Amino acid sequence: PIPVIIDCDTGVDDALALLFAVRHPGIDLRAVTCVAGNTDVDGVVRNTLTVLETAGAPDVPVARGAERPLIEAPRSASHVHGHDGMGDLGLPAPRRTPADVDAVTLLHREILASPRPVTLVPTAPLTNIALLLRTHPEVTRNIERIVFMGGAAGAGNATPVAEFNVWHDPEAAAILLTAGVPLTMYGLDVFNRVVVPAAEVHRLRTSTEPGARLAGDLLAHRPAAPGTTAGGTGGTAVHAPADGTGDPDGPDEAAGGLGDAGALCAVVDPRGLTTYRLPVEVSLAPGPARGQTVVDRRSRIGEAELHEGTREQALVDVGLEVDVPRYVKLYLETVEAGGTG
Ligand code: BDR
Ligand code: CA
Repeated sequence: PIPVIIDCDTGVDDALALLFAVRHPGIDLRAVTCVAGNTDVDGVVRNTLTVLETAGAPDVPVARGAERPLIEAPRSASHVHGHDGMGDLGLPAPRRTPADVDAVTLLHREILASPRPVTLVPTAPLTNIALLLRTHPEVTRNIERIVFMGGAAGAGNATPVAEFNVWHDPEAAAILLTAGVPLTMYGLDVFNRVVVPAAEVHRLRTSTEPGARLAGDLLAHRPAAPGTTAGGTGGTAVHAPADGTGDPDGPDEAAGGLGDAGALCAVVDPRGLTTYRLPVEVSLAPGPARGQTVVDRRSRIGEAELHEGTREQALVDVGLEVDVPRYVKLYLETVEAGGTG
């Protein structure tokens, strides 16, 4: 199995990612670190411990990390994710406490201790990762790749152009992008598209197995992003083709987006994600573009490679297309099979 460490801000869709990582036989989940984002960091730690316990993985080490971004003021996303960051699902309190080391220390220790290079999967603001890279730069020698949920080549969500995780801590994202580690960006362009149909959500919710049932409840609390079935652009088309390619019924209210869990699907099944190696830079200047990931789509593969080593921007494997049925099937088969909880 692939040694994986998740850095998250659990979070409804982070929880979906944790459930998948625990269940997938191709993943060896070695640690989970927590950062402020969807809710405050103590809430994130609690949610993460509860989800791992429900999934039957109470022994995965969990550590508390940064409680605020590097430079930005702390910000709450409770208007999106509920007061507990988990859609106010009313989950039980965890039975255990986190590790007695902080997130950066646990990341450092687990990365260097892994017999094989680790795949790091941040599904949250990149504060912990930036602190790790600055404190212990030698970890990069045992990192295979960082597959991160963050950024957007197209529209944002926190602002018109910025995705939440990057917008929350833009400086941290900039440090990640220049880390010199192979990077895969699982941004909003694909994140919003992978939606589990209502019938499957219903099936999960009625499962007798606690982990699968939790996945169903989380998906039911995580509605598909507006316009996902029609391409995820948002807004109302003022001039649409009458060729049947649109979605006359609109999104199904009871379908649920996989969100962050899609980044874990990309780790075990990278062929389901079409990536292009492109220059990416974070906009750090104050103003309406702060936190935007500026993806240079003028230069697809060949041209980008031509510039490798000469450009200041990082080259990132940016996911721009995703095989939706493939990832939905992968997710369902994984969370419904082999539960130990
Ligand atoms: C990201 O922000 C959070 O709300 C989600 O968990 C995801 O990681 C999407 O912009
Ligand atoms: Ca997240």
